Amino acid sequence: MTYPLGSNSLTSSYLDFNEMEAVMAGPIDAVVAIHNAFRQDMKLIDAAALDSARGKPGLEATVERFKFFNEVLEWHAHGEELAIFPALEACAPSVAEAYVKDHRALDAAFDSLNRAVSVRDALETARATKAFRFYLDVHLDKEDGHLYRLIKERVSVPDQGHAVGVMASTVPEDRFPELVAWMFPLMGHDDRENMTRIWQMVMPPEAFAGARQLVEEAIGDEWSELTRRIPELEGAH
Ligand SMILES: [Fe+2]
Ligand SMILES: [Fe+2]
Repeated sequence: MTYPLGSNSLTSSYLDFNEMEAVMAGPIDAVVAIHNAFRQDMKLIDAAALDSARGKPGLEATVERFKFFNEVLEWHAHGEELAIFPALEACAPSVAEAYVKDHRALDAAFDSLNRAVSVRDALETARATKAFRFYLDVHLDKEDGHLYRLIKERVSVPDQGHAVGVMASTVPEDRFPELVAWMFPLMGHDDRENMTRIWQMVMPPEAFAGARQLVEEAIGDEWSELTRRIPELEGAH
């Protein structure tokens, strides 16, 4: 199959964000949606780590998900540093450097968690997920309420679209199916709708058909709610 989000797939002819402005979702809504998926997964991982430290069995797989979670977080942070932060620097100088420091702090939070899990220290693992979650939530709230607010206020919608397209290209093409299978079950209906509409806008039709299939597999019975919101999905095979 053709993987949908490789940089080669994102041609300017599919990046018509002037047109997008007229519909519900804007390009930054894709970032908000993945922020919400990060929040939700870290909440689940942290809760599992706490229960595990209290002696509840069978939660290892949920706690272990932090490894894939962090891979996605690294792609996301790399994409922000590559595309979003430079766009902001041009219209709001010296804001982004504080967010780069946050990213390095999140790297350190991951290292602590990874160490605790690798030596099977359940108490230290729960402390590390709590610290990771706390800092992640602060970072994401600052990005949503401050950094991306400035992007929306000061960067044109086509330039926002271009930056989000460059961000998307930081996902390795062969990992896209895993990304969809992880992300869509974690998102609420509004975020699923926004992300799907944005992909429909930025992907070539055959790539979007592949993505649509992956989304359907990822959300199972809840696919009907997505097709109720975006009826043309049923015809996008
Ligand atoms: Fe970030
Ligand atoms: Fe972010």
